[in-house]
Amino acid sequence: MFLEKAEMNNSEDLQMTLMLYNIKISNHHYDYNHSLRKLQGDYPEKEKNMRKKVILVTGAAGEIGTALIAKLLSQKVENILALDIRPVDEKLGSQVIQVVGDICDHALLERLISEYEIETIYHLAALLSTRAEFTPEAAHRVNVEGTLGLLQVASEQSDWRGVPVLFIFPSSVAIYGLPDLETKAQFQKVREWEWNYPRTMYGCNKLYCELLGMYYSEYYRQLAVEQPVKLDFRSVRFPGLISAYTVPSGGTSDFGPEMLHAAAKGQPYACFVREDTRIPFMVMPDAVKALIDLASAKAEKLSRRVYNVTSFSLSATEFREMVLKAFPQAEITFKPDLKRQGIVDSWPEDMNDNDARRDWGWQPDYDLERSFNEYLVPNISMRYLKR
Ligand SMILES: NC(=O)c1ccc[n+]([C@@H]2O[C@H](COP(=O)([O-])OP(=O)(O)OC[C@H]3O[C@@H](n4cnc5c(N)ncnc54)[C@H](O)[C@@H]3O)[C@@H](O)[C@H]2O)c1
Repeated sequence: MFLEKAEMNNSEDLQMTLMLYNIKISNHHYDYNHSLRKLQGDYPEKEKNMRKKVILVTGAAGEIGTALIAKLLSQKVENILALDIRPVDEKLGSQVIQVVGDICDHALLERLISEYEIETIYHLAALLSTRAEFTPEAAHRVNVEGTLGLLQVASEQSDWRGVPVLFIFPSSVAIYGLPDLETKAQFQKVREWEWNYPRTMYGCNKLYCELLGMYYSEYYRQLAVEQPVKLDFRSVRFPGLISAYTVPSGGTSDFGPEMLHAAAKGQPYACFVREDTRIPFMVMPDAVKALIDLASAKAEKLSRRVYNVTSFSLSATEFREMVLKAFPQAEITFKPDLKRQGIVDSWPEDMNDNDARRDWGWQPDYDLERSFNEYLVPNISMRYLKR
């Protein structure tokens, strides 16, 4: 059979092969991919098995990606394919298969699926909320079109393997949009389906990608005669995340971690929101735990595809007090940026994560006290002492 002879190394070879055999290649990306995957489905079993099984992590060089990969490696998870436009942390680089590239590069994705069997995707690559407001169309391209391309790849791989690809997606508190402070005070702990009216491009992108994920899991090709094996999309909506090891950039919840890192460095900090601004937070080890626990949960236990997860809720003043307990000399003032304030004011004070707790046993390891006393303060202090 001709495919056995063809060198399936890159998409140009494949395109050539398809053309040779008079298979009409549409300019439309999906049609091309579909023909391609159909042909790949004809691969003999032994050649299918030759592809290396991998866990794909996109956004691998970011705050969460770095922490997630370190955790997976500590659990002896092998074959991590780390994709980012930047190189990953140098300590991790030698332990993963590293690809520096853009998730929007379809030719690159083609090459990856011709070389690897992707079992799980942790899709973390994104432009975060503040950056996305400055470049909304670029954010849409990366956050929505990039995600769509990966959902397509995961769908085709699911059908080709006959087993769903697990697609883990971090969503955000930014998908909520409360109209005013009175409503925010009234609806303090929002449920998953309440107030889904984001005010930012980032929030819109995340909410739409949640819906796309559900569509690809439940309804993809619903009118086709033969139903494909569909991917298994699962998502957590994170609150603001705080890491002891990386200084955040580009997020609208960054005032918390910025306050803490500035205090540890002995630098003054002017907080960009009002004292009374309250939103939910979680520390990085719990964010990684949530992603891994949701990925490991039994499908039959899950009553939804998108879950709130959170740990503690703090006002900016309370955050400052916690920082001052650890760094009494810290100079923290408040200089609200009215525009960024407007965004944070539309986010809820807290999220109800009962469904995650009930369905897959979600439970943060770090409450407020433990987050500061055992994770943030000691590790951040150490980080800046070393310099
Ligand atoms: N950090 C938070 O507080 C938070 C909260 C909720 C959700 N999230 C989500 O978690 C995910 C990871 O967030 P993070 O905090 O690690 O952000 P981050 O900015 O540290 O990491 C994102 C990574 O994506 C990469 N990236 C951006 N565009 C890319 C592209 N076109 N192709 C390949 N790589 C690209 C960046 O280089 C970066 O390394 C994002 O989807 C984010 O929306 C983060």
